[in-house]
Amino acid sequence: MEIDIEGQQIRERLFSKKLRVVQGTASEEQEKEFCPLLLRSLFPGEALTFAIYLKTLNEGNKEIHYLPCGMPGEVFQPAWLSQLEQIGIDRLYFKKVDLPRVIAYLNNYLLILEGQGGIANQQKMRVFYDQLNLTIRQAMTSTRMGPYIRSTIKQVNWLLEELATGKLPLNFLWEIILHDYSLYNHSVNVFMIALALMVYLEKKEVECQHMGIAALFHDVGMTRIPPEILDKPETLNAEDRLLVQEHPQIGFDMLKGFSAIPLEALRLILEHHENCDGSGYLRGLSLSQQHRHTRILRLVDTYEALTSLRPYRPAYRAFDAIKILREQSGPRGLIYDQRLLEIFIKFLAL
Ligand SMILES: [Fe+2]
Repeated sequence: MEIDIEGQQIRERLFSKKLRVVQGTASEEQEKEFCPLLLRSLFPGEALTFAIYLKTLNEGNKEIHYLPCGMPGEVFQPAWLSQLEQIGIDRLYFKKVDLPRVIAYLNNYLLILEGQGGIANQQKMRVFYDQLNLTIRQAMTSTRMGPYIRSTIKQVNWLLEELATGKLPLNFLWEIILHDYSLYNHSVNVFMIALALMVYLEKKEVECQHMGIAALFHDVGMTRIPPEILDKPETLNAEDRLLVQEHPQIGFDMLKGFSAIPLEALRLILEHHENCDGSGYLRGLSLSQQHRHTRILRLVDTYEALTSLRPYRPAYRAFDAIKILREQSGPRGLIYDQRLLEIFIKFLAL
């Protein structure tokens, strides 16, 4: 394989301590053209699928330069990893445009770690945490999220911290990704849109936190529904449908033992398929019986699902999705809260 000369020279300069390397905190590095990637998520012995860069200061220590130190196709050598660690580097950088490629690379690494079983479990959860971070970052770049999506940064960082410290069950998100990758993306996207809408509505910080937890885990109960049922190409029969409709209750039961998950968040999960006209499930609650934020999660959940690509249909454009949300009715009236929908249209800046 061809060795990238420039990358090799840069590595030599680095390892002979001729380069001044800088590392910022993750939050300082949100907006730049380059994104950080922790060394732990680089797969030693595997070919890179994107270019990696060192963040350095020039001679006058004034300007930051990103120098390429590994190119696509080059194998990330285990020796580089130990040398980088020895000189105190914990992260390298990639170009933001490579985000989808980096996520795919991490997914490949995660599948290999999953195959290695128990011994690789801790490493797997660390890489998965980094993958989640990047999936959230990617969600922020999607136009269908509306212009306010970046207002969630503070809340997102809070929730990531709760996951990192084990207060919230990261392993349940791992179960979601294993069960159905599109359900994982859906969960992250609903989390982002619902949080941004809560901030837009100027809800209290603690209410935003409750919504964040509920939105991220709202469909965790689906991981307990057998894949044979979910993968059926034909319309579900009544028995299967009833089983699938148990997922809010199953999710509630899975999460209720976690002291970091407040009752408010659990209630939103339990009610996330309740409709405005009282025709939803689990309990067919009328609007006045529902938690005051259930309608928000209900609306965002459907909006995200409609504007996502499905194997059996293309993604609806935001405008067409809104039309469906405006018109969909149950036996006793409209399913979605129309006042909230008008605010949502402004939020999306349609
Ligand atoms: Fe659901």
